[in-house]
Amino acid sequence: MNFDLEPSDVTPARILVVDDELELERLIKQRLRKKILAKEIELIFVRNGLEALEEVKSNRQIDMVLTDINMPEMDGLTLLNKLREIDDTLKAVVISAYGDMKNIRTAMNSGASDFITKPINFEDLAITINKTLKDVKEVRETIKQLQQAQLQLIQHEKMAVLGQLVAGIAHEMNNPLSCIAGYTDLSNQGVKSLINHLRLYQQKFPNPGLEIEQDAEDIKLEYFLERLPRMLFIMAESTDRLVHISNSLRTFSRSDTDFQVLANIHEGIDSTLMILQHRLKGNNERPDIQVIKDYGDIPQVKCYLGQLNQVFMNILANAIDACEESNQSRTFDEIKANPNTITIKTEVSEDNQRVVIKIKDNGPGMPEEAKSRIFDQLFTTKAVGKGTGLGLSISSQIVEDTHGGSLSCDSVWGEGTEFAIAIPID
Ligand SMILES: Nc1ncnc2c1ncn2[C@@H]1O[C@H](COP(=O)(O)OP(=O)(O)OP(=O)(O)O)[C@@H](O)[C@H]1O
Ligand SMILES: [Mg+2]
Repeated sequence: MNFDLEPSDVTPARILVVDDELELERLIKQRLRKKILAKEIELIFVRNGLEALEEVKSNRQIDMVLTDINMPEMDGLTLLNKLREIDDTLKAVVISAYGDMKNIRTAMNSGASDFITKPINFEDLAITINKTLKDVKEVRETIKQLQQAQLQLIQHEKMAVLGQLVAGIAHEMNNPLSCIAGYTDLSNQGVKSLINHLRLYQQKFPNPGLEIEQDAEDIKLEYFLERLPRMLFIMAESTDRLVHISNSLRTFSRSDTDFQVLANIHEGIDSTLMILQHRLKGNNERPDIQVIKDYGDIPQVKCYLGQLNQVFMNILANAIDACEESNQSRTFDEIKANPNTITIKTEVSEDNQRVVIKIKDNGPGMPEEAKSRIFDQLFTTKAVGKGTGLGLSISSQIVEDTHGGSLSCDSVWGEGTEFAIAIPID
């Protein structure tokens, strides 16, 4: 069900009138002319319950149904029961003959929110319409808010669990890593001394005898003496990388999501890139996605860094998705000639009040229809299971509501997309 209620000052409320009398259609159109011209309402006329159901099931969202009771094909009472199954937020008002208490009572029991009697008093109709539309709007807005709150809670909880998990792993990695790092260093020095010592022996005792010469050959002594320093160097380098990854994991999953700290934004972005490393790396189908960092001289910012990392994560993951989309019709060599790039630029805004982070990709960009909806909750163009349409709406809440900043998007179809995150410095 789609709960997106567009503001009524932009889109007229849609009222579906279900009646088989042509004369009534003419009369209603005439009497409600002003409201129609003012684009307050849009009337859609159908002849029976079946046509009404088709209309309600179509994509155009109906806000209110005004239905007669006695009609061919499907009567108003059956319609009321079916409507509730399709969309229980829209309200139905029945039109009934004056004094037809039995049908009115049945209609109200079947979910009608109100009734008007024939012959229609048009003043009364206008009041009923206003009241009903107001109710529908209120109900839908409440549902939307509840849905948002629920999604946010779920997302928040998911991020918190992920954060704890990542922080836990980083913590567990830390002790063995420090141990390996320390001993690799010591071993390096020790091995160097041992090799020197052995060389000294070889110089002083060039003819140690057959047994020792044979053993040197068996254990490939010369080969190892030559390569051992290089092996140890690579081990030390790899250990450094692991320490760096472990630190990034800890920075990314900072547990201070609930209070503000003075933070280094570049560290946040770098730790996020580290987490996304596996997605940036090349594979059989494409070379690495190139990340160009154009970091400016920005001050530390008081923020919820853990939450901002979530924003970087969402926007960078979208940029990677976009690059991959633009690769779909290209061969490896074509991509290599025109590689996927993501540029991250940071700077202080001209008025010195904000830090601005721009994340730009050379993916396919977005068509106009998509551009206006990307921050809407649940809007996604990705396959089921791939995108939920929450990333950007949560990001805009974090940037705008939590930090009082702004999140904007500039995209050219066929060229690429740039997101700009602005965070107040104080
Ligand atoms: N860099 C981009 N290039 C092109 N389209 C984009 C880009 N970023 C976002 N979009 C469009 O905006 C839509 C909404 O993005 P959003 O991150 O909110 O949801 P999603 O990525 O589809 O799902 P998820 O909840 O997993 O993030 C995307 O489905 C895509 O159509
Ligand atoms: Mg996304």
